[in-house]
Amino acid sequence: MVGKHNGQFQPLQRYAHITGWGKALPDRVVTNDELAQIVDTSDEWIRTRTGIHQRYVAIDANETTATLGARAARAALEKADLPIGKLDLIICATSSPEHLFPSTASLIQDALGATRAGAFDLSAACSGFVYGLALARGMIASGQADNVLVVGAETLSRIVDWSDRNTCVLFGDGAGAVLLQASATPGGVLSTVLGSDGSGGDLLAVPAGGSKQPATLETVAAGQHFIKMDGRAVFRFATRVMADATREVLGKAGLEVGDVDLVIPHQANERIIRLSMKQLGLPEEKVFINLQYYGNTSTASIPIALCDAIEQERLQPNDNMVMVGFGAGLTWAASAIKWVGPVSREAPLWRAGQRTATYGLAQMRSRLLRLSRKMEGTLMTEEGDALSEALSKRIERWRRSSKE
Ligand code: ACO
Repeated sequence: MVGKHNGQFQPLQRYAHITGWGKALPDRVVTNDELAQIVDTSDEWIRTRTGIHQRYVAIDANETTATLGARAARAALEKADLPIGKLDLIICATSSPEHLFPSTASLIQDALGATRAGAFDLSAACSGFVYGLALARGMIASGQADNVLVVGAETLSRIVDWSDRNTCVLFGDGAGAVLLQASATPGGVLSTVLGSDGSGGDLLAVPAGGSKQPATLETVAAGQHFIKMDGRAVFRFATRVMADATREVLGKAGLEVGDVDLVIPHQANERIIRLSMKQLGLPEEKVFINLQYYGNTSTASIPIALCDAIEQERLQPNDNMVMVGFGAGLTWAASAIKWVGPVSREAPLWRAGQRTATYGLAQMRSRLLRLSRKMEGTLMTEEGDALSEALSKRIERWRRSSKE
């Protein structure tokens, strides 16, 4: 992008705007009363200590972090009316990836048929989505990418110990995604703050299953593959960093707390959010809370909240918004955003059909590629066998001739 200034052509500054957004949830809602039937808890305890009323749980084994992420991503791309082929990068922030590798982002890339896009996972727990925004903004501002998809996707229900009341009441499954696009219009992601304090790594962790403590019968028997948390310590940490990170990110953007129109905080606990916002002196109507419906969906909580805030018309063009989160690591992250509002693009009527066809083709392409790889392997083996047979015959002939 270039523009003319004082008669000279100069590179224009590139801004990263959110132009598409989407969310995806599993079908099954689990209420607090249902949880009270499996662990020693009550609806009253969960509501008063956390604010959570219910959460979505991926009961269907075919619903995974990648399928939820891909659904949210499709919704975001549709909103922005961006052809899949123009996507440059997919960042998937997740605390419950499908595998150690391949990345969940690559699985989403395959499901979308985004053949021109790079893809990788980002691990910063619940702060991951805002970390992803920071990276996407950097890629766009430096001219390395024009269209970046940031996904937060989770199936935390698969790594929660359903007999541990300290954790199982808190988390939920779901995904949210945003598309960031390069623009010469000032605004979009104005500033970001990223933080980490690894000395608190043990306060919230899945201890086994990585390279430090690989899976063994003992680790499985000891429940070391489930989320372990010191809730009180995480609570204290969260109420310390949320307000500080918000102030810092606003300062970097040249804004003050009074300039903020809406804060979208990580949806972990209503008490953490209210205490943090009180420290900032922000009135309730400027803080978005939807955790009562979803529980803590980790990396997905902020993009899901963004979708709901837009749906409820809590954001207007030119509003100043802050997204702020904290999580395992320990990590924290904040981003100040000038909201430009929906980019209204008149998508032609045939576009919906074209999209469905594209996703169908993506599935077919993926199957064909898998099949061709298998065939390639078979051919190579046959060729290899034929070659070694020919070589053995030659060696045998040479042996015979040398004997004669
Ligand atoms: N039902 C009933 N009682 C419970 C439950 C439950 N579900 N869970 C814990 N209790 C009990 C505890 O055992 C404790 O009993 P005790 O006093 O006999 O030991 C009592 O309730 C009070 O426990 P506290 O820990 O003091 O309760 P607190 O008010 O701190 O609330 C909570 C606990 C909700 C976990 C809170 O500390 C919290 O939200 N912490 C932050 C957790 C968080 O946000 N984690 C996610 C981070 S993001 C990420 O990266 C995934």
